This record gives sequence, structure tokens and C-alpha cells, in this order.
Amino acid sequence: MRAETPPGGPEQHPEWGPFGVPLFDGPEAQSLARVGVIDIGSNSVRMVIFDGAARSPAYFFNEKILCGLGEGFSETGRLNAQGKIRAMGALKRFARLADAAEVAPLLAVATAAVRDAEDGAAFREAVRTATGLEIRVIDGTEEARLSAQGVLLGWPGAEGLICDIGGSSMELAELKGGGKVGMRASSDLGPLKLMGITGGKKALRAHIKAEVGRLANDFAQRSERLFLVGGSWRAIARIDMERRGYPLKVLHEYRMTPQGILDTIKYIGKTDIDVLRASTGTSGERMRLVPHAAEVLKVLVRKLRPREIAVSSYGIREGLLYEQMSEALRKRDPLIEAARHSEAQSARMPGFGRQLYRFVEPLFPRARADKKRLIRAACLLHDVSWRAHPDYRAEVCFDNATRANLGGMTHAERVYLGLALLHRYKSNRAGTGFDPALLDLLPEAQVREAEILGRAMRFGAMFAVANPSDHGTLVYRSKRRELILTLHTDAGRDLFGEVAQARFKALAAAMEVEAIVVNGP
Ligand code: LMR
Ligand code: MG
Repeated sequence: MRAETPPGGPEQHPEWGPFGVPLFDGPEAQSLARVGVIDIGSNSVRMVIFDGAARSPAYFFNEKILCGLGEGFSETGRLNAQGKIRAMGALKRFARLADAAEVAPLLAVATAAVRDAEDGAAFREAVRTATGLEIRVIDGTEEARLSAQGVLLGWPGAEGLICDIGGSSMELAELKGGGKVGMRASSDLGPLKLMGITGGKKALRAHIKAEVGRLANDFAQRSERLFLVGGSWRAIARIDMERRGYPLKVLHEYRMTPQGILDTIKYIGKTDIDVLRASTGTSGERMRLVPHAAEVLKVLVRKLRPREIAVSSYGIREGLLYEQMSEALRKRDPLIEAARHSEAQSARMPGFGRQLYRFVEPLFPRARADKKRLIRAACLLHDVSWRAHPDYRAEVCFDNATRANLGGMTHAERVYLGLALLHRYKSNRAGTGFDPALLDLLPEAQVREAEILGRAMRFGAMFAVANPSDHGTLVYRSKRRELILTLHTDAGRDLFGEVAQARFKALAAAMEVEAIVVNGP
């Protein structure tokens, strides 16, 4: 942290490029060090405490209780009696925890159940008396806006349609690119509400079709991508993963095709609920909602005809965090910021990642901005696992990258980053417990490139303890199939010892080029 901050800000330090100086050093970020969010939904009541003033949300605390406040609303028009007791208990606990964790600000919002129930206002009042919490009741379009903002937190510049399913409602919001939220709409297509519909399957289907039809008319513009937000969608996505034998268990950024979803919904229809639960670890309370949610999703996919469907683990809660951020903070890259934060906290030599990036960059002359960003992230993270046991370091690195609770990365990018970091410690994947099925997520050429990056970092990180480019620079002549290392200084020639030579050769071998060492200015 300390070592990395150049005085005078990014203007004087062009090598920071579009990333600016590390966020967590800035006063605006510091003031967001511990934001608490309580989401009182129709299904669940949840508190999240975000930590670390990071552009990528770090979950300092995260607890959810499926209270079912909206259960039975269709019959009674009131909050569920048992749900109210459970929610009150949860909120009392959360208020105590937030207090102890010195959370500021602490925001509490309530959605459809509290909004619509005749005793919603009385419940808010009771919560205020018992805990001091001021609950803000938001309407459907506000809910939609916050969910869309949550998606933006993980995918800066995302475009498409967000669909957030809760217990009692389902919201849609358009993301127009450039961080703009467009049209929004709310419907009563939440599974708890749908359970109250009488007249059997036929009536239910007709209702869903009519409602989705109405929504689809509002969103006439066809969206390429549908982002799914909400616990019930996530439960379906988990079943989709299981059915496909998908090798990564990360739901955030998980992509599905329309046909894949329709197949999964069919599969849900003919598979025993207990089997589905056991294979995906879904709670009984959640699984009860899945058939209704699946029915909605089927109609949505058919009517909206997106090309691709992606899961976002970020929703309304992350949207509230996003709302606290300044414009400058929002523009930051969540992956790079998280990698920097990690480097500052865990690397032996914070600041070396940036130097290493400069050293290895010449090997990737054709890399576009999205690739350069991954290379940069890899360099920042190249040493954060140094405390792990040497026999496991490569695996720890791989797991850290592929399973990290990070936004701003596709699954293919996770595997690329993980492979690069694995090869930073080990030239060979054999004996690392690496699951080869993960390679299916990445094209062959990318696998090779990640290996090359790993070996380049492996060489650069051991060649010199600080600023490798001061002592030697790499030039890659792709046409002549040569990798040239120019040693500039006597120190550089001393540093280029036997192990460094072996690693340089291993790098050239991975690139399938000739390794050449020259002395030069
Ligand atoms: C809700 O309405 O409770 C949802 O936002 C979240 C959930 O758990 O389905
Ligand atoms: Mg909700």
C-alpha cells in the first residue's frame, strides 16, 4: 500500500494508465470502509457488511434468513405471522452486529412484502422501536434500479436486461451501456405470490404468460443478454451446472443458453425434488420456490429471446453499495482494484506487480485492452500466496483466482488467470490437483498463452528482487521466432544466475522460440 502510492497522483505517473492510483488510498474510498446493507425481502432478510473500501465488494459479513414475510399474502393481505417473528429476531441480531462492527452507513430497505401488506407500516414501526433501524420501503421500479446498479458493480458497462426475482415480485431493468439504467418495470411474478393463484397449473400458466407478455411489450427492444438476479434464479442455475457437469462452481458470471435453460427446466420437472436438493445443496425452503420460478423463466426466455443468459450474484445490496460510490470510484476496474488490494495486503514486495507487468508486457504485443487487464491482474497477484506451503503454492494460486469472490471476470478469464498464477510457481500442471475439465472453459491458444505468462512471471519474479527492467529487458521477435534478453548492467549479469537462466530457457521453450541473451546498454 505504502510503497505503491506515487506522490502527486496519476497525472504525474502515466504508467498507471487508465487505472489511476490505488483506490483504497483515496479519501473517498476510506470513507466507505464499512458499509452495511439490510435487505428485507419477501423471502429472505439479509444483512451484508461490505468491507475494505474496495471497488470490488468484499463481504466482511453476510447472513441470510429465509423468513418468508410474503408467504400467504394473497389470502391474508398481511405479512406472514411466523415470518414477522423470525424477521424481527433477525433484525435485532443484525442491528447488534452492525453496531459492534462500527458500520457506517447502515442502510435498511424493504421490498414487496412490507410494501404491500396492510401491516407493513406497523411492522416497520415495531422494528424501529426495537432496534432503532429506519427501514426505507422502496417501490418496484426503485428495486429494479438498485438491482441494475448491483449488476454494474460487477460488470462495469454491462448491456442488456436485468431480471430480479424475489419472493413476491419480479423486476426488469434495462442496462444501456456506459453505466446507464434505462426502462424499468415491476410485476407480481414472485413465486410466493404465484403460489396463491387458484385454478391449478392452467390458470398459473395463463397468468404468467399474460404478465410476461405485458412486460415484453414494454421492453420492445430485444436484448442480447439477460442478467438473472435473485436466489431463486441462482438455485435454477445451480441445477443447470449440475446437469451439464460444469467444472466451476462459481455462480457469478455463469452463462447459459436459452436452449440449455429450457432443457434444465424440463429436467427439473421430471426430477425428484430431494434428488435436486441433495445434488446442489439447496435448502428445502428455497427448493419449494423453484418450480414456480422455473415456470416464469421458461416463459421469459421464450418471449424475450435473449441470445445469452448470465447469472449475477450482485443485486440490490450491491446496488446500494454502488450508490454510495462517487462517479470516479464507479469507473474503476473492480478486478484491478481487488488485485491491488490483495497485493498491498499480502505480497512480499507491494509495488513489484507493476514492475513485473512492465517486464513481461513485451511478450504480448498483440494483447488487446481486455487481455492487458488480465495480465496486469496476474502480475499484481503473482506473489500474494507466497506464505502457502511450497508444495501447494501452485494450487493455492489457481484456486485463489478461479474461486475468488471477485467481480469483473468471465469464467474463462478466471481460468486464464488461475493458470497463469499456477505456472508462476510450477512449470508442470501434473501433480497439482488441477482439474483438467476446467480447460474446457478456455480455448487452447489461451491456455498456452496463460502458461507463457506464468513462466514469464516465474522468470521475472526471481531474476531481480526489485525492478527487473532496470537490469534486463525482453524483446520478442515473433517473425524470427526469437526471445531476446538484453542484460543492461553488471548487476543484471550477476543476477542472471543458473536458475534464472533455466527459467528464461523454459519461457522460450513454452513460446517455441529461440532463447538469446545479449549484453547491451
Ligand atoms: C426476496 O424477495 O426475498 C428476494 O429478493 C431474495 C430471495 O431470497 O429470493
Ligand atoms: Mg428482493
